[in-house]
Amino acid sequence: MKKITKAVIPIGGFGTRLLPITKAIPKEMLPIVDKPVIQYIVEELSLSGIEEVYFIISEDRDPLINYFSRNKRLEEKLILNNKNKSYQEIVNISSIINIHFILDKEQNGSATAINLAKEYLLNEEAFLIVLADDLIRSEVPASLQLIKLYEQYKTPIIGVHKVPITDVNKYGIIKPTSNDKVEDIIEKPSLDEAPSRLASLGRYIVTNDYFKYIKDLKRGVNNEYQLTDVLKLMLRDTTFKYYEIKGQYYDIGTREGHINAIVDYAIESDKVDNDKLNINT
Ligand code: G1P
Repeated sequence: MKKITKAVIPIGGFGTRLLPITKAIPKEMLPIVDKPVIQYIVEELSLSGIEEVYFIISEDRDPLINYFSRNKRLEEKLILNNKNKSYQEIVNISSIINIHFILDKEQNGSATAINLAKEYLLNEEAFLIVLADDLIRSEVPASLQLIKLYEQYKTPIIGVHKVPITDVNKYGIIKPTSNDKVEDIIEKPSLDEAPSRLASLGRYIVTNDYFKYIKDLKRGVNNEYQLTDVLKLMLRDTTFKYYEIKGQYYDIGTREGHINAIVDYAIESDKVDNDKLNINT
């Protein structure tokens, strides 16, 4: 079995729920304490054994490209001023994982955005899809939890978590079977339509069959080509498992999720700093 080493991240959305700030700053670049959201995602992927990441971006995503590019002038200045820790931190951003940017000129939805990485993923047995506004704080990185399961069962997997019934219309909701398989998935169902409270939370492992279904895809919610609808088509021929990811989930696309993440990550990094102090005294 070939290891999963590649991930694709569609980053084209307008971040309408966090306007006006997202008019100028992509939501993936919003700060959680002193790092942008996307940095946490990339760290998760690196810790999960991912080697290549394909970001599908729109034309206005310069801050993202700048963030992951080397800045020689800044690096030289840090070295000159003996700021070695900061220097290492800055260099690590761009060296932690191989990042590739693919431009999505059309922006017709997550499904077609992912399809733009086809030529890089077609030879992979399976790959990871990550939605970058879903942060998961966990002991075992969320993507690694899914990868381990894939290695065990060799079936595609949808990472899920339970949401309050009133929130089902914000997510892709699965219809589970009694043996952890997925029978159906519906993008943003109404309360009446929702087959469960298990929502996909932006971590998926799919096989390269994904690309076969794009031609049959119709526009869905918001008149966009939805990733959920590709999974729905794949489910006709493919067994999918679902897995309740262990960890604390934050939907960064909402004000509440963003604030909660800032508070929890701040407390955690303070704790790490205090632990270091205690060791040193
Ligand atoms: C997207 C997906 C949805 C998934 C959600 C997780 O929705 O379309 O299926 O459950 O991410 O956050 P969005 O957040 O773009 O509305």
